[in-house]
Amino acid sequence: ERSSNVQTRPPVVTIMGHVDHGKTSLLDKIRETKVANGEAGGITQHIGAYHVKTGRGVITFLDTPGHAAFSAMRSRGAQATDIVVLVVAADDGMMPQTEEAIDHARAAGTPLIVAINKMDKPGADPDRVLNELTAKEVVSEEWGGDTPMARISAKTGEGIDELLEYISIQAELMELEAPLDGAAQGVVIESRLEKGRGPVVSVLVKKGTLKQGDLVLAGEHYGKVRAMTDEHGQRIQSAGPSIPVEILGLPETPAAGSEFLVVTDEKKAREVADFRTNR
Ligand code: GTP
Ligand code: NA
Ligand code: MG
Repeated sequence: ERSSNVQTRPPVVTIMGHVDHGKTSLLDKIRETKVANGEAGGITQHIGAYHVKTGRGVITFLDTPGHAAFSAMRSRGAQATDIVVLVVAADDGMMPQTEEAIDHARAAGTPLIVAINKMDKPGADPDRVLNELTAKEVVSEEWGGDTPMARISAKTGEGIDELLEYISIQAELMELEAPLDGAAQGVVIESRLEKGRGPVVSVLVKKGTLKQGDLVLAGEHYGKVRAMTDEHGQRIQSAGPSIPVEILGLPETPAAGSEFLVVTDEKKAREVADFRTNR
């Protein structure tokens, strides 16, 4: 059944960069700003994803680890999202995972916005960062290139409004849309086994609306959505495009990056799951 109910959806923005360059701090600061503005919201450890309402609309953020061991996660992150924000510490400059994130974003064709972080530090040298990025063919708009770059501090909050504005402008250019109706499709962000709850699977809905009771096929596993919670741990009944949720009801934990989709036929779900398990 094809849906015609196509609507504008929030951009999904993945934060990438070298270890300790301040990705999580940036997201924390954005959340704090939001709390200061009196809006409900927060971040959970597990899902690493949340919404923030800016002056120009809602943005869905995904955090990623900068550690070298998580290359696959960054690769999938670049593919699963609309925009990559590359965090580079101004006192440290380009590092191996900075370069790797650029390569992943490029391979996925995902637009890049650079956040030159830690501008509050005495050793901050943003021009050095601009030079190093230029050598990687990531050229700032201010140097005649096409990559927006904001000088920020996740500690003081300096420059974060500008960064959010760059994200909003990029999102508007992309005219992001998704059908609100119909069987949900999306991607597994992360999954884990939790004592007493069983497999808890964080997913990001990309199309359609995911509902409690839906039969979901995710990677090699399928099951009925028994319960869903939003990023604040609140029980919800449904989730539309760009909304991250945790679902219970899958028998095992599908790999992060797996596609998920809602299916109507249990027999088909089992066949696909078996095929994927045995290949
Ligand atoms: P991984 O997830 O481990 O890759 O690190 P991360 O990129 O999320 O960095 P994180 O936010 O954990 O920050 C690393 C350290 O840098 C922490 O001690 C932060 O307090 C510090 N830090 C982050 N941003 C800033 C900043 O803008 N200024 C200063 N002075 N310190 C910062
Ligand atoms: Na860190
Ligand atoms: Mg972090």
